[in-house]
Amino acid sequence: MTHGNELEEITRQLRNHHQEHLLAFWPQLDPRQRQELLGQIRELDLAKVDEWVERLVQSAPELPVARRDFEPATSYGPEPRSPAERRKYKEAIDLGEKLISRGKVAAMVVAGGQGTRLGFDGPKGNFPISPIKQKTLFRIFAETIQAVTQRYGATCPWYVMTSPMNHAQTVAIFKDNNYYGLDAKDVFLFQQGTLPNFDFDGRVLLEDKARIARSPDGHGGCIRALARSGALADMKRRAVEYLSYWQVDNPLVRLFDPLFIGLHALDGAEMSSRAVIKNSPKEKVGNFCLVDGKITVIEYSDLPDELAEKRRPDGSLAFELGSIAIHIISTCFVEKLSVEAYSLPLHKAVKKIPHIDPQGHRIEPKQPNGVKLESFIFDALPMARKSIILDIVRSEQFAPVKNATGEDSVEVTLRMMVERAAAWLESAGVKVPRNPDGSADCTIEIAPSFALDQADVPAKRDRIPPIQPGDKLYLA
Ligand code: UTP
Repeated sequence: MTHGNELEEITRQLRNHHQEHLLAFWPQLDPRQRQELLGQIRELDLAKVDEWVERLVQSAPELPVARRDFEPATSYGPEPRSPAERRKYKEAIDLGEKLISRGKVAAMVVAGGQGTRLGFDGPKGNFPISPIKQKTLFRIFAETIQAVTQRYGATCPWYVMTSPMNHAQTVAIFKDNNYYGLDAKDVFLFQQGTLPNFDFDGRVLLEDKARIARSPDGHGGCIRALARSGALADMKRRAVEYLSYWQVDNPLVRLFDPLFIGLHALDGAEMSSRAVIKNSPKEKVGNFCLVDGKITVIEYSDLPDELAEKRRPDGSLAFELGSIAIHIISTCFVEKLSVEAYSLPLHKAVKKIPHIDPQGHRIEPKQPNGVKLESFIFDALPMARKSIILDIVRSEQFAPVKNATGEDSVEVTLRMMVERAAAWLESAGVKVPRNPDGSADCTIEIAPSFALDQADVPAKRDRIPPIQPGDKLYLA
């Protein structure tokens, strides 16, 4: 097909799908820009675009299941609840440790998000968060992986998902920091895909005259990205069987937890989750429910009030398990999903999307003006043959940095990091000065090399100096 013919054909197709505005600035583009734009338009599956517009952009999203079908999910507790469970936990910890030391477990963080709420310039993983040394999130995770590697004498590869929007920057950050002391060959950075952005009328937005506005396809995009990027093949080559999965914004996450890994493996699960007990009926976390006997996450906005408020005879919430995006995923499950070309459902997110208007002027909206589409990793849970949930104590493992101020803000995360460190020291008999309101009257930072969890502290008791009010204590 000649260029002229191809342009005519593309114009005709775009018109049929109500997207002809994508070529509005064609006469103003130079030859290179024209090629770029044509390439992007060719990649659009216009039939799919129509379907997304009809089903998601212009309508209220459908619920995955009828609401009456929700049942509360059940979970393992942070501590065993019976002698039989005590034996099982012990067996699970032994198995988990064995799997880690045999190199069967890898780390995987999703770090492809845009972090718009935090408003930090650059990949969120490069945000400095630790209370004294100002270590970045990436550094904290890397030091944890290094400490696990040393403890178990095993190689623990790390898979880091980025997006085209932050990949080059993330690679540069890892290189500049010399991979934080990890062996570069054991760190695999791979990119997720993107999806076009829409205005409320279903028109694909233009970022500039020659570029379609796109955004990362959600953390669920990791399933496809793992297969496409060669990361899955790399895992198979290394005989990795389990992924310890987490989100880049949670510095308290416990990676490579032998109990969690062991319970997942003992129960023959394909994808498992950690949960917190919700603070309130409508806390803004996903709800673990059972739907047709399968563990499913239902977003807080989709759980009907009467179910959210429902209580057991002891007063606890019937739907008490909140999702915190920490999982163990078997690599064979990732392979199964990718081989079967299974695609996770898309969700609609109404956002502020920078774009150009029909006159070509750049618009930086102050109010949400369009729709992004994303898939969520937890939508893979009902596909798993078996799935388990393990509750955690929130203050031990969950402090996401989402916002610059207020809820889930930097300030809250910092406070939680200090309080967890203080609690660990107190559990080993260290006296921690406290304010009248009970908060620690000092700043403490514990490096992963010093302790990976509370149980590691007593053995190092003699290395902890007395702490005075207002002290800053860094333990490494
Ligand atoms: P969030 O839902 O908090 O989104 O992502 P975000 O993009 O980081 O931040 P906002 O909403 O723009 O403020 C939760 C986790 O999932 C990852 C993020 O990097 C974070 O670790 N994520 C999210 C991806 O890896 N890809 C995506 O497309 C979306």
